[in-house]
Amino acid sequence: VSEDTVQDGALEEERALLDAATLAWRYLQSAERYPVAPAVAPGAVSSRLGLAAPEDGEPLASILSDYRELIEPALTHWNHPGFFAYFATSSTAAGVAAETLAAATNVNAMLWRTSPAATELELRACEWLRQAMELPPGLLGHINDTASTSTLIALAAARHRAAPGIREHGLASAPPLAVYCSDQAHSSVDKAVALLGLGLGSLRRIRSDDAFRLDPSALEEALERDRAAGRTAMAIVATIGTTSTASVDPLPDLGELARRYGAWLHVDAAYAGSAAICPEHRALLRGVELADSLVVNPHKWLCVPLGCSVLFTRGAEPLRAAFSLIPEYLRSDDDAVNLMDLGIALGRRFNGLKLWFVLRHLGLARLREHIRRHCALARDLANWVAAEPGFELAAPTSLGVVCLRALPSGCGSSEEIDAFNTELLRRVNRRGVVFLSQTELRGRVALRVAIGNVQSVRKHVETAWQVLRLEARHLDSGHRAPAQEDS
Ligand SMILES: Cc1ncc(COP(=O)(O)O)c(C=O)c1O
Repeated sequence: VSEDTVQDGALEEERALLDAATLAWRYLQSAERYPVAPAVAPGAVSSRLGLAAPEDGEPLASILSDYRELIEPALTHWNHPGFFAYFATSSTAAGVAAETLAAATNVNAMLWRTSPAATELELRACEWLRQAMELPPGLLGHINDTASTSTLIALAAARHRAAPGIREHGLASAPPLAVYCSDQAHSSVDKAVALLGLGLGSLRRIRSDDAFRLDPSALEEALERDRAAGRTAMAIVATIGTTSTASVDPLPDLGELARRYGAWLHVDAAYAGSAAICPEHRALLRGVELADSLVVNPHKWLCVPLGCSVLFTRGAEPLRAAFSLIPEYLRSDDDAVNLMDLGIALGRRFNGLKLWFVLRHLGLARLREHIRRHCALARDLANWVAAEPGFELAAPTSLGVVCLRALPSGCGSSEEIDAFNTELLRRVNRRGVVFLSQTELRGRVALRVAIGNVQSVRKHVETAWQVLRLEARHLDSGHRAPAQEDS
């Protein structure tokens, strides 16, 4: 390979990298040009992809061109302002810039010394978030890929505290353990309990009240029953912003019960914790001083690209006790925090960079502004739904989440109404202008509109409401038509 060829290759790569940046920028500006969810059948994309990796490399330009034509249009566009399903996420220029640089430097922050700036930046960016949320001083945050991982890590630390001999002797040495959460808690709690070897039978899903908040008296009864039967309360998981309705468990009551029964208190604030950067939402976390751990996902509502879940614990020690294992080749003599000690993975991405970029570039004021806008839009939508004959709210509206249900004139039974709403959702989403999801509340289907994308403004929520009403009317008249013909 001549020097000229090497230079040509470098120039081509530079051009392609800049083209990729331009493509990313255009995408951020105009994801709205696509249907939110693509109209593709399973297998349609893979049928157009090569069956095996090429023997000889291809120019980046042609890969980018395939990306543009084959891949991007077949994505579900989470960055579309009409994306109201699950919990919306947002990418921004700051996040993309940070991800690019993290990929370029490609450092592994397993130990402080394997990349000092990466470790220190991660810890400092999490500290900024702690301050912004007004969490108690002394909580130490670090970044995991998802809240599922953060909760698994927190519950592993809780298990270690309840049964310190477990690392050496395994579960056989532990007393029977129990974990408590509400019937609305996220399935990541079940997954963690199963993975930690406790068995799903050890998970007590406590009933929630009419507003889908864990009922502390039912929790106390369960704790008492277990204590009488010789079971140790390992952990209580409080959810601040449940997945279905964004309901908020009574943290002070749960904290008090955790203290009385010696249980670890883990707070799952994956979605709603971000709202605590707004002073008017701080009450969401009242009682948090009793928590042993808290998870919040800046990748949900704080405009950080996916893969940024912050787990706060009371210092590093509880995690070190459960996880730290230092083979000779990883021994270091500095007294810095080594991120590998705080969880499962050894290798660690340069995770702090995107949180730091986004917090610095958008600033807390702009982040508060967009959280406030989403909450106000959710309240507006809830008012429209409540005032509309043929619709009802399926849960109290909390933060950016509205749960609703259509009540067609032609259907009577709950099963028929459920089927109607499931079909309504399919038709609304098929139009491609908005994308909603569904959930089940007390055994009944409810449609969820979760407003959270940085680009979602009033007109997008109005569109969602128009499409819902229009499709409900069409579907309703279709339902009634045969009955009218009969009569
Ligand atoms: C309350 C709550 N906890 C945990 C999770 C799991 O989040 P992740 O996808 O980051 O694992 C979710 C997901 O939406 C959630 O809503």
